Amino acid sequence: MIDKIDALLKEVESFSAKTVEEAEAFRVKMLSKKGEIPALFKDFKSVDPASRKDVGMRLNQLKQAATDKVNEEKDRLAASEDSGSTQRPDMTMPARFNPIGSRHPLSVVRNRINKIFEKIGFVISEGPEIEDDWHNFSALNFPEEHPARDMQDTFFVEKNPDIALRTHTSSVQVRVMENQQPPIRTISPGRVFRNEAISARAHCIFHQVEGLYIDEGVSFADMKQTLLYFAREMFGEDTQIRLRPSFFPFTEPSAEMDVSCNICGGPGCTICKYSGWIEVMGCGMVDPNVLDNCGIDSARYSGFAFGMGIERITMNLYQVKDLRMFFENDLRFLKQFESAV
Ligand code: PHE
Repeated sequence: MIDKIDALLKEVESFSAKTVEEAEAFRVKMLSKKGEIPALFKDFKSVDPASRKDVGMRLNQLKQAATDKVNEEKDRLAASEDSGSTQRPDMTMPARFNPIGSRHPLSVVRNRINKIFEKIGFVISEGPEIEDDWHNFSALNFPEEHPARDMQDTFFVEKNPDIALRTHTSSVQVRVMENQQPPIRTISPGRVFRNEAISARAHCIFHQVEGLYIDEGVSFADMKQTLLYFAREMFGEDTQIRLRPSFFPFTEPSAEMDVSCNICGGPGCTICKYSGWIEVMGCGMVDPNVLDNCGIDSARYSGFAFGMGIERITMNLYQVKDLRMFFENDLRFLKQFESAV
């Protein structure tokens, strides 16, 4: 009997359960009514009286050790199972700071340009980035095989019929004119594509805002005043503008608009290359051919159009020296615009 008790005691001491079920099975084996230990208690009656005291003591120790062991194992397993699921959050822990993003500088400037024109009644129109020849060139009075088409090196998607990435957002304005009669006051912001070598001043992708105003009796003076208003809202109230003669197939007469340098205010600096002026946009009176192409009566209506590159304006406003930075998404660059809205 003593040997049997010692053997069971060793088993109890070395027992370790991997699951709660295993611990319970061990309890049934050792302590349940039909288990090993109660069986020994039954046999106890047949132990000879001289050794009863000793055997009884050991038997009780065994029962106690088995009970303790089973409880210990169950507690241990329950605790490790719970960890993670019932652990409470530490309410005293300082909140983790989620860094907030910021707008891209080109979006900031595009939104500003849009707002300036929206204030005087222009509405925003958008169109596809992949265009057919008609909307990008022909309707805009670019003659077939005319060198004017070379002004804008084009990425073609398909040839015959020609499908291309739009080279300017004037294509959107063709769509507006085809679908709407004057008065028309619209601006078209968007991404445009030209097959140009990438450098600090040029990229094959850039962004434009182009504008169009058509009504009865619209004159060159209306255009000049509208663009002066824009220049002052954008670059400050003391800004001067000047118009230099230029050429575009879709406008006649055509001009380039310069604004007085917003950095030096006139005398000359590195930004304006010591000229005092910064080139900002192309503009002109819509060629009557264009109006007729789009179903607008050129005998009754006239209008002006203008178009600017957002990159160039942003470079001037924030003195960004290299246009490629707008496309690299380097956080060290973008973070400098966190306060701009
Ligand atoms: N579409 C011209 C360009 O992309 C800009 C422009 C628009 C010029 C309207 C004159 C009038 O360069």
